[in-house]
Amino acid sequence: MNTQLKPDIHWVGYIDWSIRDFHSYNTKRGATYNSYLIQDEKNVLVDTVKYLYADKLLQNVAELVPLDKIDYVVCNHAEPDHASGVADVMNACPNATLVCNAKCLDTLKAYMDGSNWKTQVVASGEELSIGKRTLKFIFTPMVHWPESMFTYCPEEKLLFSMDAFGQHLATSERFDDELPLDLILEEARTYYANIVMPYSAQVAKLLPSAAALDIDMIAPAHGVVWRKNIPAILEAYTAWAARKTKAKVMIVYDTMWNSTAIMADQIFKGACSVDGVSVEKIFVRVSDLTQLADASLDCAAMAVGSATLNTKMMPAMAAALNYLGGLKPPVKFGFAFGSCGWGKGAMEEIAEILPKMGWELVAPGVKSKFRPTQEQLDACFEAGKLLAQKALG
Ligand code: FEO
Repeated sequence: MNTQLKPDIHWVGYIDWSIRDFHSYNTKRGATYNSYLIQDEKNVLVDTVKYLYADKLLQNVAELVPLDKIDYVVCNHAEPDHASGVADVMNACPNATLVCNAKCLDTLKAYMDGSNWKTQVVASGEELSIGKRTLKFIFTPMVHWPESMFTYCPEEKLLFSMDAFGQHLATSERFDDELPLDLILEEARTYYANIVMPYSAQVAKLLPSAAALDIDMIAPAHGVVWRKNIPAILEAYTAWAARKTKAKVMIVYDTMWNSTAIMADQIFKGACSVDGVSVEKIFVRVSDLTQLADASLDCAAMAVGSATLNTKMMPAMAAALNYLGGLKPPVKFGFAFGSCGWGKGAMEEIAEILPKMGWELVAPGVKSKFRPTQEQLDACFEAGKLLAQKALG
């Protein structure tokens, strides 16, 4: 396995082949926690790994440089997938100074005892000379947490980008030119949709300054290092951060005795009756939240429907709306539908939630009592058509 990014710069992280649940993100291809070692007059470790794998990281480092020769440990991001290993690393590297920003240090110390650490708190734009090379720290708040930052090495044209441009992908390959680009971009997209999408405004603000850096390699904290396809990932991030939608309609539903599924079919037919629109139907109970978020990343219009269970929408639909509500996909138009037997129904609940997510309802919601009537099915068809017309713009 080739771990060398540049002369004297190595990947020393951990490949997590078995993880499938990353705080509710279905990491179907596993994940990596990337840590990088720069050997110069000062030896620097950029980011650590999840605490469970700190010993593996330290073994990787020790194969290249004695642990007491590590001078700096840079922490770009305090989230525990990268930073819960900091305590073990600082204990194992007695001469290391932890380099991070003030918010990062506060967060790390909320998670672990850092009372014996030597620390160097940096400001945005500050530089640290490590010999032949310089490290420049660029704050990137809310990409992904408030303390997040990039570390840039101008002499190597190398950007350590923390979560940004990452992918959850366990692989023995470390570089983007060693795997099919479609696969890497697919995982980068899923990652963006499930982790970064709510912070698109911050990403959009950051991208011009990142693109202005002289870069020939981007080393994220997850997945492969970008060295061949940097324009492709920057272009993809630019589109995602701009919240550009496609002429795409999603029909997202849960059903009990098939009535809501029959309505979803009619909405699908109505949407498909409009040329030039892509239509995707997702039965949330047999799908997963990760796929739902991924599909929503460029979706213009969405119908949301549920059967009624004990006066409420079905549990999987509640989870789906909760997840989408937090991720804030760029959907602009919505429609609520669903079935019930008696009393209050799921449809009313959904019709209340969608406008709160900023979606404009294209038609009054449709609620069937047990099986939908022909009139209700016609209304569903028309709503599908309307959603498609709105999606076309
Ligand atoms: Fe990979 Fe926001 O942590």
